[in-house]
Amino acid sequence: MQSIRNRLTFYYAAAATVSAATLFMTGYILLDSQLVSGLDDLNAAEFKQLKIRLGSDYRTLTPRIIDQRIRDSADAASALFYINVDEPRSGMVFYSRNLHNQSIPDVKGLHNYTVAMADVGEVRAGEFLLPPFDVTIATPMAPVRNSMHSYIEVCVALMLTMLCVSVMIGLWLSRVILRPLLFIRETANRISSDNLSERIPLPGHNDELTDLARLLNQMFARLENSFNQIKRFAAEASHELKTPLSLIRLHSERVLEDETLPPRIVDAVLVQLDEVARLNQIIDEMLFLSRAEANAIPLALEAAEPEQMLRNFEQDAIVLAEHNRSVFRLQCHGAGRVTFEERWLRQVWLNLLTNALCASPAGALITMHARFAEGRWLVTIEDEGPGLEDDKLSRIFDRFTQFGASARSGQGSGLGLAISRSIIVLHGGSITAHNRTDRSGLRVTVSLPAL
Ligand SMILES: Nc1ncnc2c1ncn2[C@@H]1O[C@H](COP(=O)(O)OP(=O)(O)OP(=O)(O)O)[C@@H](O)[C@H]1O
Ligand SMILES: [Mg+2]
Repeated sequence: MQSIRNRLTFYYAAAATVSAATLFMTGYILLDSQLVSGLDDLNAAEFKQLKIRLGSDYRTLTPRIIDQRIRDSADAASALFYINVDEPRSGMVFYSRNLHNQSIPDVKGLHNYTVAMADVGEVRAGEFLLPPFDVTIATPMAPVRNSMHSYIEVCVALMLTMLCVSVMIGLWLSRVILRPLLFIRETANRISSDNLSERIPLPGHNDELTDLARLLNQMFARLENSFNQIKRFAAEASHELKTPLSLIRLHSERVLEDETLPPRIVDAVLVQLDEVARLNQIIDEMLFLSRAEANAIPLALEAAEPEQMLRNFEQDAIVLAEHNRSVFRLQCHGAGRVTFEERWLRQVWLNLLTNALCASPAGALITMHARFAEGRWLVTIEDEGPGLEDDKLSRIFDRFTQFGASARSGQGSGLGLAISRSIIVLHGGSITAHNRTDRSGLRVTVSLPAL
């Protein structure tokens, strides 16, 4: 029972069923005692009838007449009552015919009791005094037992119905109660580093969930603040670093002008210049990302058929792939128009192709596939590399993320995909990466709105 919803439903159904079971059990006990006391009243009424039949002069009558009068009374009610009259002093005993000469068993100390008799079954007996006689009148318990049995059957059916109904009500109730929570979860889930300014709408009423939403909103506000500070810092630091780096480059180049320098120093200065160039590129990329996040990159968007752009790119891609001893293939399907700036999209294709070539073994086939579908222009680039595990896949668009060989080689900066995503987002599209299902390899899909 993982979810709160299931737990709430279970608790509700259990509480409702246990309450119903307690009620039914109390009803059982009350009904049983009422029915049994009804039988006791019946026995008492029959005793009164018997007394009237015997008459007030019964002490003066002969045993035969007494027997006759009792028998008349007993036979009239033989379906309902068993009667047993005995006179302890003389030992004379009268049994109603339906007793078949057996006496109703006595339970010492009780006037009304339930007892089982052979051939007759369970009976409710009552003892009455009619000096000098002891009269015992019994009536069958079967109707009471049958009624109680029917009561149990009805209760079990009701309990099962109640259980089903309470599970359904519990599910509905928990859904109603948890709806605001699910809404908060969805919104909180949507809020990521890209849209930290979004807030959870506060429900109208003021309850614990409103408090929770308010607390989360405060937390998002603090997070947004910190994120903005980090972004500002990255942008400012990158900018500030550019001037000292240019100075280092200029000084190094001036040092190289000295022709008397020993080759060892020349090599060291050349390495220094390489690293400065690399640093410059990283700083440019970081500045680009900061400006893209601040929507400060002016795009010269133009609506055009995108196939020509891909055909232009194909020329370079084939050469690049050959250089890596791999094969590049472009397939374009469908016609349509897309708004884009070729310079930026070309940078995305180049990064995706470089990544694919880096990950694939020599001789691999890199396929670029473009098509129009459901109002989108979809471009996929598939490679024949090892692909990536799910936890890595979810992080490859983050900055400075490199895995495996790329991380070990020291090549690249891990900013390529972050920049690609920024460019695609600036074009109003999205970029995703999945492992190929037909074989090992990665499939990166760029989706842009088609006109
Ligand atoms: N096609 C791919 N197959 C397997 N891993 C990939 C693929 N593309 C990217 N990756 C992984 O994702 C990481 C991030 O890629 P990204 O393009 O952002 O950076 P990079 O290529 O390492 O450096 P940069 O592009 O900045 O020069 C890569 O280092 C690599 O580990
Ligand atoms: Mg890259």
